[in-house]
Amino acid sequence: MPSFNTALTRALGIKVPVVQGGMQWVGYAEMASAVSNAGGLGILTGLTQPTPDDLRKEIRRCKSMTSKPFGVNLTLLPSINPPDYGAYAQAIIDEGIRIVETAGYSPGEVIKKFKSVGCIVLHKCTTIKHAKSAVKLGVDFLSIDGFECAGHVGETDITNFILLSRARQDLKVPFIASGGFADGQGLAAALALGAEGINMGTRFMCTVEAPIHNNIKQAIVDAQETDTALVLRRWQNTSRLFKNKVTNDALKIERESTTGKFEEVQPFVSGQRGRQVFLNGDKDHGVWTAGQVIGLIHDIPTCEDLVRRIEHEAVDVMRRNASLIVEDSPSSKL
Ligand SMILES: Cc1cc2nc3c(=O)[nH]c(=O)nc-3n(C[C@H](O)[C@H](O)[C@H](O)COP(=O)(O)O)c2cc1C
Repeated sequence: MPSFNTALTRALGIKVPVVQGGMQWVGYAEMASAVSNAGGLGILTGLTQPTPDDLRKEIRRCKSMTSKPFGVNLTLLPSINPPDYGAYAQAIIDEGIRIVETAGYSPGEVIKKFKSVGCIVLHKCTTIKHAKSAVKLGVDFLSIDGFECAGHVGETDITNFILLSRARQDLKVPFIASGGFADGQGLAAALALGAEGINMGTRFMCTVEAPIHNNIKQAIVDAQETDTALVLRRWQNTSRLFKNKVTNDALKIERESTTGKFEEVQPFVSGQRGRQVFLNGDKDHGVWTAGQVIGLIHDIPTCEDLVRRIEHEAVDVMRRNASLIVEDSPSSKL
């Protein structure tokens, strides 16, 4: 099997240019270590741990499960009582992590902190404008999240066909493609558009090692690409979620509320209820994050099998594409 050689594999010391993006209530050591052991980059989700000290322990647990590189995600979301991001960042640094995925609002301070100790920072964004701001902050890679993606899609609704080419045209730092990827054909397409690799969330949720209830993995297998809903647009915090009874209820309030107060919809979009979904396996108990890529997911493989499959498919499709080019022969010019 030939190897991939991209700016991402070289910088991170990984075999396959596939990253498992941060996932709240999914990105535990079981998930991240399985992806890293398979040759991709696994990422722990910082805020899935209730305190910075718990994150320290989780990082140590992950180190005991893989000798391969892995990273940690730190997501900065608007909140009335924000977590102590500085303390989470310090825990990540103290534990010797040197690959960090950042996402969300006003990441300047934490990115500065990570860069001051030489971390490789991958910053996730949904617009070229935000990507350019992140470049000024010194990030090493952009993770360009198209409108197809799970979770916070932003407010501009630009899908990856446009967004990735805009990234190639405009960005001065390397980027990876995120949102809508599940297979090697997708990886080959992303590389063709100028990306150095791909980032996947939903596809990795639907693996043997993902530490969530099997019913939820089966719900993803059973779902189609039309089974996601966009919620919270009215509050400029649009999220792509798995379509269920609770998203329908939330959307009804979003449409019909005369006050427009976020408090009215808040109980429906509670993160704690979403967490229960993953623990008890009732897909209708609360809202949970999933991307349009659910339509492309038809099985629940191990991370090893999934990453090997992606690797083989990408190599096959790139070879096939190369074979579509034929040199002009003298007779064909007649
Ligand atoms: C269950 C779930 C939880 C997520 N939580 C986070 C998060 O906390 N922080 C973050 O930056 N991205 C989060 N994401 C987004 C992923 O990291 C990734 O960008 C996205 O899933 C890519 O789209 P895809 O699902 O089509 O692969 C989450 C995705 C899923 C599926």
